[in-house]
Amino acid sequence: MQSGIRSLGYLGLDVSNVEAWDNLLQKVFALQLREERVGGAWQYKMDRHRSRLSLHPGDADGIAYAGWELESKAALAAHVDSLKAASIEVSPLSEQECADRAVASGVVFQDPVLGLRTELFHGAIVECRKFQPPRAINGYVTGEQGMGHFVMMTSRLQEAVDFYANVLGFSMSDTMDFGPPAQQSKLVFMHCNLRHHSLALMTPPPGAPDGELNHIALTMRDFDDVGYAYDIVREEGIPVLMTLGKHSNDLATSFYVANPSQSAIEMSWGGIEIGEDWVVRHYDDTKIWGHAMYMPPRPLD
Ligand SMILES: [Fe+2]
Repeated sequence: MQSGIRSLGYLGLDVSNVEAWDNLLQKVFALQLREERVGGAWQYKMDRHRSRLSLHPGDADGIAYAGWELESKAALAAHVDSLKAASIEVSPLSEQECADRAVASGVVFQDPVLGLRTELFHGAIVECRKFQPPRAINGYVTGEQGMGHFVMMTSRLQEAVDFYANVLGFSMSDTMDFGPPAQQSKLVFMHCNLRHHSLALMTPPPGAPDGELNHIALTMRDFDDVGYAYDIVREEGIPVLMTLGKHSNDLATSFYVANPSQSAIEMSWGGIEIGEDWVVRHYDDTKIWGHAMYMPPRPLD
């Protein structure tokens, strides 16, 4: 099936410490907090879309939902047919849910492997007013590449890959081994547009929870904005999971900070794009240089 999924439209997170999250998202990532609390959610803008990242305060921590954008109502209907053919229960998003997500229409289902609430939508509301970050940045790479990527941990790696490829139409970008030989994780990177990966799946590292979020990643347009943010991380004593470094597969330069929900956020720049002539390869490490791991996460010296 040809992928009708165009991009990662939005993510929702359950958070138990919304103030700490807000500090991280505004101070380090310069995301714009919307004034309106939609359904109690703290919503953040990173471009002209009404909202890309929503925090839902409560007792829990973890990913609440992922929203994937389709180009049309017809593409949405075709995906519903594919899901139903795979015996997956699909429901329409209610009018209220569509209003909360700022989309024309959509559907929701539970990913049968990860158990993740997954939404497919079309008709995102785009605001004419410019994105207004809390400090001057040159903006994020979004548009047809979507909001960024996220990585889920699962012990049922092959089943998850098969679902995203065969039912939702994602294509494989590459695969990778991560960690020392005795504790190795396997990663599979998948794309649905020019962005090297909008989704990656990995076997859980030792002690990490199965079926949970590993990290989300946002991509800066300007490398200096990554540098400025890295300075802020050091000055503010924000716990770092991986220092500045360059990935081996997509050649993105990035750093990872711990977030208040025991997962991570990556800020990246400069990854390569998927072309017509893409060839799937396997990498024996995640990095070319840098990315020293701080475990447990701790502030930079
Ligand atoms: Fe990443």
